[in-house]
Amino acid sequence: MSHSILLLPGDGIGPEVVQQARRVLEHVADKHGLSIELAEGDLGGIAIDRQGAAYPDATRALARQADAILLGAVGGPKWDSLPPAERAERGLLAIRADLDLFANLRPAILFPQLASASSLKAELVAGLDILIVRELTGGIYFGEPRGIRERDDGEREGFNTYIYRESEIERIAALAFELAAKRGGRLTSVDKANVLEVTMLWREVVERVAQNHPDVALDHIYVDNAAMQLVRAPKQFDVLVTGNIFGDILSDTAAMLTGSIGMLPSASLNEQSRGLYEPVHGSAPDIAGQNKANPLATILSVAMMLRYSLDAPAAADDIEAAVSAVLDDGLRTGDIAEAGASIVGTVEMGDAVIAALN
Ligand code: IPM
Ligand code: MG
Repeated sequence: MSHSILLLPGDGIGPEVVQQARRVLEHVADKHGLSIELAEGDLGGIAIDRQGAAYPDATRALARQADAILLGAVGGPKWDSLPPAERAERGLLAIRADLDLFANLRPAILFPQLASASSLKAELVAGLDILIVRELTGGIYFGEPRGIRERDDGEREGFNTYIYRESEIERIAALAFELAAKRGGRLTSVDKANVLEVTMLWREVVERVAQNHPDVALDHIYVDNAAMQLVRAPKQFDVLVTGNIFGDILSDTAAMLTGSIGMLPSASLNEQSRGLYEPVHGSAPDIAGQNKANPLATILSVAMMLRYSLDAPAAADDIEAAVSAVLDDGLRTGDIAEAGASIVGTVEMGDAVIAALN
């Protein structure tokens, strides 16, 4: 059986990191006898420039029939002044909604070789392995009404709606419990139930889902405290489950604990485990096109794709071992290099991973 994989390089550093991840994917597919067919499409700013929409029809058609999607990054200063509904980022939100990719898995795992690159003391992060499960197709990101309007007194106001249905909370909670049961057996649900009704309901529904999972120890934490605990004692956590916006914020924090946001992969899955895989970092327009970006988060996203959508765990393990070997050899892009260390470029890092696979 052949797997059809759609590449969406996107904007900024997206194309260069996806290029390296593509080489790794082709290599590992060859090595493990996996048959893959690659297609490429436009998403984000580049799609606005070439096709007049951030998630154009042609991309939608490709995305709907792909078994898995690998995305680089979207957005950049060139499109920041467009009206809100036409911005590059809306392409990413649109594809998440279109494919119902409600579950965003963001593991924050510290490679021991990078302990000193973490913004925290090495002993606080040594062995760190946490998983953030972020609801991705609801909450304040998608709630209606939304907009910027003029009040009767002539002053403008912006407004969004933070809303979750019980069924939306239930399905992300159920998945988080399943994942926690396969890991350390602990789940922390993050909310702001002391203030926001929507998260009071969140907490109640998570409690209800917990009845089906006596094997998992559940606790609840307010988001402000979660932010503090992540930088105080991050190893207390196993799996964190939370809504769209809290997950957006906390996953960037968790990423930095591991040394660099340039190291973190993610998977966005729907109920059929079809998925979109992307690095957690953004489009980094300041370094785009300069062969400076760290391709490892995108390469590790390919490993997640092999594991979750293509049922090829051995190939996934192989990529993760190759990344670890490359770090053992001391190769560093600028974002993970210690002062004075020698730095390799995006392409050289891709070359090294491929060499390590051999
Ligand atoms: C992320 C990004 C996106 C988000 C942006 C680019 C729309 O920050 O994937 O975390 O907010 O979800
Ligand atoms: Mg984000």
